[in-house]
Amino acid sequence: MTNSEIIKQSEAAFVGNYARFPVAMIEGQGCKLKDADGKEYLDFLSGIAVCSLGHCHPAVTEAICQQAAKLVHVSNLFHTAPQVELASLLVEHSFAERIFFANSGAEANEAAFKLARIHSDDGRYEVISLEGSFHGRTLATVAATGQPKFHQGFEPLPAGFLCAPFGKLEALAAMINHKTCAIICEPLQGESGVRPLEIEYLKGIRQLCDQHELLLIYDEVQVGMGRTGSLFAYEQLGVKPDIMTLAKALANGLPLGAMLTTDVIAESLKPGTHASTFGGNPVACAAGVAVIKTMLKKGFFEQVNSNGEYLAKSLGAMVQKYPRLACGTRGAGLIQALILTSTGVGIGGEIVQSLFEQGVLANFAGNAVLRFIPPLVVTREDIDSMVAILDQSLAGF
Ligand SMILES: Cc1ncc(COP(=O)(O)O)c(C=O)c1O
Repeated sequence: MTNSEIIKQSEAAFVGNYARFPVAMIEGQGCKLKDADGKEYLDFLSGIAVCSLGHCHPAVTEAICQQAAKLVHVSNLFHTAPQVELASLLVEHSFAERIFFANSGAEANEAAFKLARIHSDDGRYEVISLEGSFHGRTLATVAATGQPKFHQGFEPLPAGFLCAPFGKLEALAAMINHKTCAIICEPLQGESGVRPLEIEYLKGIRQLCDQHELLLIYDEVQVGMGRTGSLFAYEQLGVKPDIMTLAKALANGLPLGAMLTTDVIAESLKPGTHASTFGGNPVACAAGVAVIKTMLKKGFFEQVNSNGEYLAKSLGAMVQKYPRLACGTRGAGLIQALILTSTGVGIGGEIVQSLFEQGVLANFAGNAVLRFIPPLVVTREDIDSMVAILDQSLAGF
C-alpha cells in the first residue's frame, strides 16, 4: 500500500485527535525510517524519545522474538523471569529498592500519585507540580500537567493538583500546606521546550520536601533511560527523589512504564491497592532488559555525551548564521533544542514541515524551540546530515 492509500483508510477509521505527518512509516533501522512510498527520513524524534537504541536494534529485536516465542502474557497473578530481571537491574542501578510496572508514562505517574496519597497516613493528598510540566493525558496526569492548554475542555479536573511557577522556590514554598503530600517535577522539562531545572532550584525543592515530609517525585518518563547522558537524569544533578517514573525508552518502543521507589515508601501499597493487567508484560520487560544492558556497556554514555555536545555545537552554528530566527541552544546529552526568536516561533511549524519535506524528523516543542531527540546511537555523520538540511531549511525563511 502507498502512503495515500494508508492515509485514506486511516482518515476513515480514526478519532481525529492526532495531527499526523502525512506519511505511513513502514520500516526503520537505526536512525533511519522509510515511508510507504520508499522515501527515507533521518529520525531526530525517535518516536518522541522512545526508540533510544534506534529502530530495530538487534539486541532488542532478538529479546522480543525469543520471549514472544516462549511466553507473551500471564498477568501479575504470576511471577515472570523477564519482569524480575528488569526490576532487579533498575534497583541495582538507581536510588530505588522497589519497582511497579505499568504500560505508559501517564500510568506510571498515576501510580506515583496514588502511592504519594496512600503513604500520607494523615490524609494529605495534594500534589504540587511546576508550570510548563507535562505528565500525561489521563485525567489526574492532565490535572498535574502545568500547561492550561491541556486542561481546556476537560474540566472539572480531579481535585488535589496545584501548579507552582517555574523556577521560583519561594512561590513553591508558599503553596505548601497541611494537605500537600508530594511535589512532582521533571529534572528537565521536555514538552514545554527542553527546559532544565537549575541544580540549586532542585536542591531547594528537595529541602522543602524534607522539611515538610513531602515525597519528591521525578517524572523521568522522557529524560530517563540515557537521554541526558546518564542512565537517569537525576544522577547528574546529585539530588535524589523518593519516587521516580519511567516509560518511553524503557523498552525501546514496546509499551512499558515503571514507578521506582524505596522500601519504606513502597510498603504503603498493599495487595489490592493498585494493579495493572498488562503492566510488566514479559515481552516488554525482555526488551527492557536488552535496553538497559546495552546502555550499561562501557562507553555508551560517553558517546551520548560527546555526540550531544557535538549536536549542541552544530546547532550553535545555526544561531550564529540565522540570528533572526534562532537565539540560543539548550539541553543535555541527546535532548537538545534550538531556541527560536519571536520571528522563528512564528514559523516554527513551517520549519518542521520544511525539514520533513527534506527528510528530517524533528519537532516544535513548547511553542518555543526546535527539539532534537535522535536515537542515542546517532552518529556524527547523521548529525552533520541533519544540520546541513536544517541550514538549507532556515536559509529559505
Ligand atoms: C515527562 C513526561 N511525562 C509523562 C508523559 C506521558 O507518557 P505517556 O504518553 O507514555 O503516557 C510524557 C509524554 O510525553 C512525558 O514527556
